[in-house]
Amino acid sequence: MLPSDETRVIYFKSEQLRTYWYNRLLLAQGFVSEIDQYEMSPEPIQKANLCSMIHATHRATGKDVAIKVVDKENTSEKMLEQFKGEAAILSRIRHNNVCKLVEVIENPNVLLIVMQYYPGGDLQNYMESRDYEPLSEETAKQFTRSLAKGIKYLHARGIIHRDIKPENILLCDVTAIESPVLADFGLAKHIPDKKTITGRVGTKGYMAPEILAGDAYSLPADIWSFGTLIYALVSS
Ligand SMILES: Nc1ncnc2c1ncn2[C@@H]1O[C@H](COP(=O)(O)OP(=O)(O)O)[C@@H](O)[C@H]1O
Ligand SMILES: [Mg+2]
Repeated sequence: MLPSDETRVIYFKSEQLRTYWYNRLLLAQGFVSEIDQYEMSPEPIQKANLCSMIHATHRATGKDVAIKVVDKENTSEKMLEQFKGEAAILSRIRHNNVCKLVEVIENPNVLLIVMQYYPGGDLQNYMESRDYEPLSEETAKQFTRSLAKGIKYLHARGIIHRDIKPENILLCDVTAIESPVLADFGLAKHIPDKKTITGRVGTKGYMAPEILAGDAYSLPADIWSFGTLIYALVSS
């Protein structure tokens, strides 16, 4: 640590690196909050009751992110635990067909789950924009294979998603439906040692019969939702 009246000159290879390190040093000293690293778009991607999803840009690198903003003051203890559980699961997974976590920021007022931004929007919007025209067999095949890889990756780690549906599938590009990304881990849960769990959660139209019936269930419940989703994509 330098005495407060001494200075050091530091050289950087580029302007971008200089800005990046300047911001990091400010953060380290607590002069600006970590939240200020991001320039937030004024219009949310989606506004829900409990949180909003905001598009933002990382000031230093120019990278686009999507931030789930949870207002802690207006969120119950139970819901806050759910959001923290979502962040914890996202922090343990990394796969091309699963939404990527960038970082989690928390202060006394807000919890921010910062994720990679997927500019293609969600699959529900995509289907609407095509007036629900069924996908071609070839496209459906590629889509199914990609999403199956993401689900297989999660299941191999004992993670059940519990809410596979078009709104929770993101696209890197509107023209690249073949490489979807599974998002929204709000209801995801780790099931240790192939055990079963209970809890009637998910979205009715996509829920496995065992969940609907209130029975115990495990990872295969996701496969029902996955099948229902594919059926919706290929039928008119
Ligand atoms: N990383 C992202 N990039 C772009 N859009 C996203 C991203 N994550 C979510 N969205 C959009 O925001 C919506 C809500 O996000 P989601 O995580 O599903 O929250 P909720 O729990 O409110 O359903 C998604 O349906 C999608 O349209
Ligand atoms: Mg969702």
